[in-house]
Amino acid sequence: MTVSEEKTFYIETFGCQMNVHDSEKVIGTLLCQGYRQVLTIEEAGLVLYNTCSIRDKAEQKVFHRLADYKKLERQGKKFAVLGCVAQQEGEKIFDRAPHVSLVCGSASYRNLPKLLVQIEAGNKRVTGLDDRQTDECFETEFTARNNPHRGYITIIEGCDKFCAYCVVPFTRGKERSRNSNSVLLEARRMAEAGYTEIQLLGQNVNSYHDPLGEKTFAELLGAVGDIPGIKRVRFTTSHPIDFGADIVAAIDSQATLCDHVHLPVQSGSTQVLDAMQRLYDRDQYLARIAWIKAARRDISITTDIIVGFPGETEADFEQTLSLLDVVEFDGVFSFKYSPRPNTPALEYADAVCEADMSRRLAALQEKQREIQRRRYQRHHGQRMEVMVEGKNQARGQWIGRTSQNKVLNFTAPSAIELLPGKYVSVLITGSFPNSLLGEMVV
Ligand code: SAH
Ligand code: SF4
Ligand code: F3S
Repeated sequence: MTVSEEKTFYIETFGCQMNVHDSEKVIGTLLCQGYRQVLTIEEAGLVLYNTCSIRDKAEQKVFHRLADYKKLERQGKKFAVLGCVAQQEGEKIFDRAPHVSLVCGSASYRNLPKLLVQIEAGNKRVTGLDDRQTDECFETEFTARNNPHRGYITIIEGCDKFCAYCVVPFTRGKERSRNSNSVLLEARRMAEAGYTEIQLLGQNVNSYHDPLGEKTFAELLGAVGDIPGIKRVRFTTSHPIDFGADIVAAIDSQATLCDHVHLPVQSGSTQVLDAMQRLYDRDQYLARIAWIKAARRDISITTDIIVGFPGETEADFEQTLSLLDVVEFDGVFSFKYSPRPNTPALEYADAVCEADMSRRLAALQEKQREIQRRRYQRHHGQRMEVMVEGKNQARGQWIGRTSQNKVLNFTAPSAIELLPGKYVSVLITGSFPNSLLGEMVV
């Protein structure tokens, strides 16, 4: 085969961990179809963008990329748009970017081999756009994980919750869980291949419903944590309405389950939560937090918050600030509300102006920074286990992550050369609002 006949691809991924992991599966599928991955657009015959449309900014990124590289179509390059923007915009993408030959949403990735044959044959406007009818998950034995120690497993796809602001139910299809046997088989294979950390993924991971009827989500967590060789099990994202005390009990009873829960609240005001159609109120959310705080282990809690949802008053926003004080999160991802296509909130009156949104976001982040400063200080003097991720050569510090998912920069005796994936014990000697400092215990 000459170089020009060789099939090469370049892929860029935007968005959440589900997208990152989907890309690992797409890469595996392409490799299996005889493609070779390259790291620059210039070298590639096929350019794929795995896209995100959670907020408008994320969506615009892909159209900027497509505009930037339009001229390369003349060199015979083909372009494919995958993921959430693909599913959301569908064939409209061909009108906006006529050099795109494939548009494929995540519910259709299992058809990728067939779709690739079509674009290789020179077909234009090829689509894989299954709608919410799909019951199947995308499972493949060809997943090309790019980290040999820590890997994702998707256990549930899609979403049926339809929060008033969110595109996911439209872009990811209906909620469907993988059966527990297939999840455990994949986890065992990963353990045999040397993985020590597994992260279970789902838009609402704890809404998991085993089609075999054998395991609850908490039991599945426990079963993955029981696999010989597995030292850490994480899961994200949990939806408060499906968060049961059994999850906390599982974490308490099994050291391999990491002491971290990501539990997006979105707002501290019951009125706003109601308008968002979040299915819980402030008190119900705080009840879940109380379960987590009552655990024997020190479980870190992180969350997502949207400011400026239509109708959010200053009093509502104050409720969100007060929730930060009550819960004392270890981390908050905060966003300005972004109006999204197809969602009910698009029609809501009382939009919050951009200036108020910016002010509220800044106030929230400033408050949370102070809270985190204290939250991270509480670890001073503790010993924590980290999985080594790499080294900051300039500072001479190793970088690792604790079970609580906190970044820990630490020094080790110069004679010791650590390798990524190794677990070591570190004494915490300092902290910042987003990271810890320490010294390896030898
Ligand atoms: N399924 C998860 C969240 C997934 S989306 C849950 O229900 O908690 C990730 C985060 O993006 C959300 O928690 C929310 O904070 C944010 N987000 C979603 N839609 C948004 C929008 N239209 N504008 C701003 N932020 C949004
Ligand atoms: Fe979006 Fe709500 Fe579903 Fe989360 S639960 S993915 S925020 S619709
Ligand atoms: Fe984005 Fe789709 Fe994930 S919209 S956040 S890539 S589910």
